[in-house]
This record gives sequence, structure tokens and C-alpha cells, in this order.
Amino acid sequence: ILKALTPQDLAGKRVLVGLGPTREYFDAARFWSNPSTGRMGASLALAAWLRGAAVTVVTGPVSWWYPEDVAVVPVTSAAQMYEACLEAWTGGCDIGVMAAAVADFSPIPHPGGGKFKKNEAKDGSPVVFTATRDILAAMGAKKTPGQYLVGFSAETDNLLENARGKLVRKRCDLMIANPIGRADAGFASPGNEALALAADGRQESWGNIPKTEMAWKIWDFTIRS
Ligand code: CTP
Ligand code: CA
Repeated sequence: ILKALTPQDLAGKRVLVGLGPTREYFDAARFWSNPSTGRMGASLALAAWLRGAAVTVVTGPVSWWYPEDVAVVPVTSAAQMYEACLEAWTGGCDIGVMAAAVADFSPIPHPGGGKFKKNEAKDGSPVVFTATRDILAAMGAKKTPGQYLVGFSAETDNLLENARGKLVRKRCDLMIANPIGRADAGFASPGNEALALAADGRQESWGNIPKTEMAWKIWDFTIRS
């Protein structure tokens, strides 16, 4: 009944949305993460579903409600998110969106599997980090003709330049650039401000609007491609 009220302009499309934070456990009790709530990604997934798409959600540890016929793959770490996203993407998705706040670094876990003890800190911290793999870049590298890839970019400065760089480097078709580090946009806020940069040169700027509305705009922009 809900779908009867919305245009089915994504009917027949298989959509993957990666969303939420990742958790990188470094011992039995602690992890490295970020404040992502998954709101932007969940809004995109729901909007795509309403518009008729077959939706797969790969979600970090946050909980949102999804309709029964949305395939939900819960993951914890960046490595797990990589596997789940690549599997869905290479399995025949038409549109992939990475709205997840993936950890760029992962702490090397405690060798014994127990807890780091205070007295294990030699030079301030016992924890050593290694780089994680870039999921979006891997999806871009494996993109086949007809697949459409959307990325987000969170920037504290040089928004346009950095976002453009990521659009090209990760072989995306569309990059949604968000300013972060302010109270009214970005992480864990209901609203968002964005610059949409398409590989075909189209560009749109969206003022402070709710993430639910931004999701709708992102699909409008994508469909026009
Ligand atoms: N991303 C990803 N895998 C990672 C890191 C990021 O798929 N290991 C994705 C994000 O989901 C987002 C895009 O890449 O869609 C850009 O993320 P962002 O953090 O803005 O850029 P990075 O490339 O990680 O660079 P930096 O954090 O240094 O700005
Ligand atoms: Ca990053």
C-alpha cells in the first residue's frame, strides 16, 4: 500500500546500500569505531524500496527497521563489510551506494585474545594500527558496464577538491560530499548538507535538509543519469 503512493521508478533495479559504522575490536573488551548512526544509509535503503528496487543492506552495528523483503546482512568489522559488499556487488547489483563510515585503520588485536593491560603500554599506547581495505574503491575497480556506483565523502576542509579526487580515484559515478565537524550536518544528525558531484559533470548543491529528503534527491539524481 505504501508503494502505491510512490513512483516505481527503481522497479527492476537491484540496489546495495552499505551503511553504519564499523567496529574494529582490539581486545576482548574494546573496539575502535565512529559515531555513525546509519541514518543516511537507512533512508536511502527505505527510499529505494519504496520506489520499487530490490534492496540489499549491508549494515554495521546499528539498528533500523527494514521491510521484510529487504535483504539485511549485518556485519561488525571493516573486513566483514568488505566481503559482504563485494559479494553483493559482483553478484549482479545495478546500483551500489556506500554510505558507511568504514574505519580506515584497524588496531592489531591483542595477541593472546585477552585484554590489553595498563602495564602493556610502553610508549603511551599498546595498540598498533594497520590500514583497512577500501571497499568503495574495490567496488569501483570491479565495476562492469551498466553498474552505477555512489560514494559519500566526509570532509572537514577542501570539500570540492577532496570529493572530486575520491570520485575519480574510486571510479564512482556519483559522489555526495558532506561537510563534517559542524553541529548541524554529518554524523549522527538528522539533517545533512551536500554537494552532489557526478562523473558526467553534473553538479548540484543541497542545503540543510533532512537525511530522508536527501535520500530522495540522491535517487532522483541517479535516475536522471
Ligand atoms: N570507504 C570504503 N572503505 C573504506 C573507507 C571508505 O568503502 N575503507 C568509502 C566510504 O563509505 C565513502 C567513501 O569511501 O563512501 C569515502 O569515504 P571517506 O572516509 O570520505 O574517504 P577516504 O577515502 O576514507 O579518505 P579520508 O578518510 O582520508 O578522507
Ligand atoms: Ca575515511
